[in-house]
Amino acid sequence: PASEHVTIVEVAPRDGLQNESRLVDTDDKIRLVDRLSDCGFERIEVTSFVSPRWVPQMADAPAVMAGIARHPGTRYAVLTPNMRGFTAALAARADEVAIFASASESFSQKNINCSIAESIERFRPVAEVARSQGIPMRGYVSCVVECPYEGAIAPAAAARVARLLADLGCYEVSLGDTIGRGTPEAVDAMLAAVLGEIVATGLAGHFHDTSGRALENIAAALERGVRVFDASAGGLGGCPYAPGAAGNVDTVAVDDFLRARGFSTGLDAEKLEQAALFARSLRSEP
Ligand code: HMG
Ligand code: MG
Repeated sequence: PASEHVTIVEVAPRDGLQNESRLVDTDDKIRLVDRLSDCGFERIEVTSFVSPRWVPQMADAPAVMAGIARHPGTRYAVLTPNMRGFTAALAARADEVAIFASASESFSQKNINCSIAESIERFRPVAEVARSQGIPMRGYVSCVVECPYEGAIAPAAAARVARLLADLGCYEVSLGDTIGRGTPEAVDAMLAAVLGEIVATGLAGHFHDTSGRALENIAAALERGVRVFDASAGGLGGCPYAPGAAGNVDTVAVDDFLRARGFSTGLDAEKLEQAALFARSLRSEP
């Protein structure tokens, strides 16, 4: 039988680069996205339309979006924290937007300067316009198992916020182990709770590799039926508001891992290696 497909969402240009202290040249960001487009990704997260005061690295979002060569089979997604970011994303012809909330109140305050409830109200107009314009909207829940400020997060807290994002119209909710301290057991317990609210086909796993257990966490999520995973070429990443967080799980490692388990990803492994080398070359500290 044909092997089952798993989608890898490439997030290096956004989640990877947002944490680099040195400002990466806009042209290099464009080169990175173009190399990734050649690998055959269905979705690439390109940049964020956030406040440049908060994340200076993403200040060139409009220029990056204007400079990339778009592949017909690829959707180019961007993060939008509020109506202002959403309007700019539309002007830049983003194919998809993502709103981002947190399962932890402290992380919500540090990351987007408001409570979880306030963030949902802030996303509501974004969700309404996205729906009316037919723009697919993804939702992120950060700190689904661990928070850098609060420690362990209750599975029910992650499930509640995932439900709120789905209710806003997110076609998929990406569950983020933002600081990469999740264990497969904690991920499994979290997923058990979230699956009480959202079916597996509406979920994605977003693992950072701080503890080196991201692949085990992906295995736990595969067991629960999740078939979409975020990953970052070269393992770039971290989050400016999550001290100590390592990069996202490396796309090459995820691709190898999935193939070894008999899944198809549709990616060109050789081109992916090259794109990952290029991604690594953009790091301040290799
Ligand atoms: P605020 O300071 O509360 O709001 O920030 P504000 O409305 O007072 O805006 C502050 C300044 O930013 C103002 O400019 C606004 O005009 C401007 P000033 O008057 O000071 O010159 N501004 C904007 N500029 C451009 N685009 C915009 C925008 N909005 C306001 N859209 C805000 C609130 C949400 C804006 C801010 O906290 C922010 O931008 N946060 C983004 C933080 C971020 O990007 N974090 C990383 C992404 S999340 C993540 O990495 C986790 C994830 O990977 C999953 C996981 O791993 O868990 C997704
Ligand atoms: Mg992340």
